Amino acid sequence: MENLKNRIAEVINELYAIDGAIVEFADVPADIPGDYSTNAAMRIAKQAGKAPRQIAEEIVERLRRDSDEFVFSIAGPGFINVEISGANLQKRLAEAWSEDYGCNKSGEGKVAVVEFPSTNMAKPYSVGHLRPGTQGWATKQILEANGWKVITDNHLGDTGTPFGIWTLGFLRSGKSLDEVTIYDLGEIYIQMKKALKDEAAENKHELADEVQEWLKKLEAKDAEAVKYAETFKKISLDHTHEVMRRMGLSTDYELGESFFAEPGKELVQKYLAEGVFEQNDDGSVICRLDEYGIDVPILVLKSNGTALYATTDLACMDYRAREWHPNKVIYCVGAEQKFYFEQLFALGKKVGIPQENYHLWFGTIDQIGEDGKREKMSSRKGVVLLEAMLNDAEARVRANFASTGANDLSDDDIAKIATGAIKFSDFVADRKTGILYDPEKIFALTGCSGPFCQYADVRLRRILEKNADFARVDFADYDWASEKEILRLLLKFPDLVAMVGANLEAHRIAGYCFEMAQALNRYYEKTPILQANDMERSARLWLVEKADFVLSHALGLLGIEIPEKM
Ligand code: ARG
Repeated sequence: MENLKNRIAEVINELYAIDGAIVEFADVPADIPGDYSTNAAMRIAKQAGKAPRQIAEEIVERLRRDSDEFVFSIAGPGFINVEISGANLQKRLAEAWSEDYGCNKSGEGKVAVVEFPSTNMAKPYSVGHLRPGTQGWATKQILEANGWKVITDNHLGDTGTPFGIWTLGFLRSGKSLDEVTIYDLGEIYIQMKKALKDEAAENKHELADEVQEWLKKLEAKDAEAVKYAETFKKISLDHTHEVMRRMGLSTDYELGESFFAEPGKELVQKYLAEGVFEQNDDGSVICRLDEYGIDVPILVLKSNGTALYATTDLACMDYRAREWHPNKVIYCVGAEQKFYFEQLFALGKKVGIPQENYHLWFGTIDQIGEDGKREKMSSRKGVVLLEAMLNDAEARVRANFASTGANDLSDDDIAKIATGAIKFSDFVADRKTGILYDPEKIFALTGCSGPFCQYADVRLRRILEKNADFARVDFADYDWASEKEILRLLLKFPDLVAMVGANLEAHRIAGYCFEMAQALNRYYEKTPILQANDMERSARLWLVEKADFVLSHALGLLGIEIPEKM
């Protein structure tokens, strides 16, 4: 539009010898023909000494001679309305089209580490780690679409203490090692935590000591302790991987906290010796962050000399810098850890970590509680397991389709719709707000939902299938008048990908998919494809192919797959 603005200013100068006329465009309301409108003619009417409508007509007469790129009309007292013709939009799309339409190379040569879902091994995978996975995966996809090289890392919470707790709890439970499941381990962990708390309240430490004993044995590589730890770790990891598989998630690395405990302690000693860190009287070590505007120092070593969260994260930042030389590291972790990451990143600056660290945070997943109030999602038993949520989602999708008479969906399609719905719900609003888990809306086939968008694409594919044998003809003379809305949306896609690549606002993609699905529904309603004449049909199929490509790719950026059938 910049060119057109300049051209209008030029025409004004030619016709009325007015230099530097101000030309601005505004969007035109939906009920008036045209896409943009300018009041340039009215602005110069006095100076030109003519009626604004006449001026508008004279300007437009000139502009029409330039090209047929735009359609001009005059409205009201002298507004010039500009419409980009459908044919022109199609021409632009055809020119811009490529095999990787939408992608760009702006991130070429740059490396990002994206960390997700970073579950904790002592507990079964719960909905608490749903958003880190969904947001993390989308972030990876988006950066790759912008040309970045992305390394994904699952920063597992697999540090010592839980293993001591598990071992002791397991021995007390009387279960056999061959039979113990992740759910037993989750239960054992909860019970042991409670027993430890009760014991501490009575000023006793028998159990706590026993836990420490097992930990010491584990560190000393005692065969029995190692056997337990390895078994528990395997059970937990198998479970984690199974849930990740169902969610369509995977990562390149799984460097958990335990991997960084020893190097972390060494770094603490190094920075202590250099005077960057300080030791407290009780032996614990801190790093002051006042120069970064943070007056709470970060604890980097416990008084008993053991590592803690920040010790491992310090080593992890250092490791990533040395091994992967990332430009940016993105931690996909909930809002509760905001302050911790502010401290950690300041610590990183203080010790000279070169990469930019970014906390991609989000709100909680809420539900409407029995009292009708919004609360953090939970179940009667406590946390909701992600597995249970997925099972419930699949049952809902199955029931929804059965009620419409569709009983022939494959398990694979049911799973795609169920996870698609859950993932889409993560992006309906800015990630910084909590999401309300409302199954009525999330799994609905209408409204702003994953299934609604998936269905729009399934319909496109069905049209293409039905027309597979149709011989396409030349459609150079087609006017593309009914396709304008979709063409405009398709043309927007590359800018959208570039924008979310820069601001990591993945929810804008969900908004785009919803807009596109709505526009497609309107299109199907009024535009015949199968029944159209050969030229129209060929042109419309061309558009359907492009729309399928873009919509499925846009959903794919959010990790949402298209079912075969729905
Ligand atoms: N496992 C942690 C949790 O669930 C998240 C880990 C985040 N990443 C990190 N480098 N600290 O709270």
